[in-house]
Amino acid sequence: MSEPADRRYGPATLPTARGPLSAAVVKALRRPPHDLAADLGVDLYPADPVTDEDLQLTLFLCYELHYRGWLGVDESWEWQPTLLALRARCERVFEAALRRLVGAPSVPAAGVAAGLAELVAADDGPALAATLQRRADLTQFREFVVHRSVYHLREADPHSWALPRLGGPAKAALVEIQTDEYGNGRLDRMHAELFRNTLDRLGLDTGYGAHIDAAPAVTLATNNLMSLFGLHRRMRGALLGHLAAFEMTSSQPNRRYGNGLRRLGFDEVATRFYDEHVEADAVHEQIAAHDMCGGLVRVEPALASDVLFGAAVGLAVDRLFAAHLLDSWAAGRSSLRAPAPPAVPPTVSLAVAASTAPAPAVRTVVV
Ligand SMILES: [Fe+2]
Ligand SMILES: [Fe+2]
Repeated sequence: MSEPADRRYGPATLPTARGPLSAAVVKALRRPPHDLAADLGVDLYPADPVTDEDLQLTLFLCYELHYRGWLGVDESWEWQPTLLALRARCERVFEAALRRLVGAPSVPAAGVAAGLAELVAADDGPALAATLQRRADLTQFREFVVHRSVYHLREADPHSWALPRLGGPAKAALVEIQTDEYGNGRLDRMHAELFRNTLDRLGLDTGYGAHIDAAPAVTLATNNLMSLFGLHRRMRGALLGHLAAFEMTSSQPNRRYGNGLRRLGFDEVATRFYDEHVEADAVHEQIAAHDMCGGLVRVEPALASDVLFGAAVGLAVDRLFAAHLLDSWAAGRSSLRAPAPPAVPPTVSLAVAASTAPAPAVRTVVV
C-alpha cells in the first residue's frame, strides 16, 4: 500500500483507541486480515451505547472500511468474516438502544409525509443553531465545525447506499437530491468541497477524517446510525426517513450557521456551504418527504413505520448531540475530546473560491 499524496479524499488515519474493544480492532487492522478472537466483545453491554466511546469508535472503525478505508490498512479487511461478526454484535446493541430511544412511531392516517411533518414539528431540540448564530465565540464555532466535519467531508455518501436498493419514484427522488449534494458533477460545487473551504477558512485541517480523534461518541453516533441504516437493505426505509428529517430540519439552521460566521467576521467563502443549504434544502425537504418517502411507501407500504423510525432516530440523536455541545459550553468545557488545534492560515484562494461564490471581501481572520 503506497502513501497517498493527497489526504483530502482519504483514506483516513487510524484513530486512537478509546477502550479495550476499539484497541483490539485498531491493533488487528494494523496487521494483514486474520480471524479475531472469538470472545472479542462478547460482554458488550455498555450502559448507554449511543454515548459509549469504545462501542461507537469500534463501529466507526468497522464502517469506515466500506467508505474510504484506513491509511495503511489492508483493504481486504472490509469483508473479513470475524470482523463483520463483531460489527454485527455491536450493531445489535446500537440498534436496540436506538429503538429504546424513540420507540415505534405510529403512521398517521394522512400518510408518511404527514408523519414526517409531525415529527419535525414536535422536535424541541436544544437551541444550538440560535446559539451559534447569536452568541457562540470563535472557539465554539470551530468546535462545531470540527464535529460536523466527520459527516460533511463525505456529505451524502451514506444515503447513496440506498440507490441500488430502490426502484421507481423513490429512486428518482433520491437521485435528484443526491445530484445536488454532489454538485451536479462539478467538483467545486460538491457540498463536501464547499465544507472543505469552510474548514480552511477557520484554519482547520481539511483532510478526510482529520478530526475523528476529537469527535466524542455522540458525534460518531450521528454518523454510525447513517452507516447502520445504509449498509443494511432491511433498513432502507429508515435510511430514507433519516434523510427526509435531515433535509426538513436543515434550511433554517443553516441560515443561522451562516449568519453566525458572518457575525464573527468571516467571508462568503467560509459561509458558502451554509448559504447553499438554505435554498437547496428548502427544495430538498419537499422532494424528500413527498416524492422520496411518499414514493417509497406507495410501492412498499410496509416500510412506512421504518421511514418514521429513521426520521425519529435522526432527530433524537441530533438532540443529544446539540445538548452535548451546549452543556459542555455552559460548563466552560470544550465539547471535543481534545481542543481544536490552533488555526493555520487559509489556503483556498479567493480566485478558486470565486467560482462558487460571489466576490468575497478579503479579510484576515485572527484566531
Ligand atoms: Fe448538502
Ligand atoms: Fe440537502
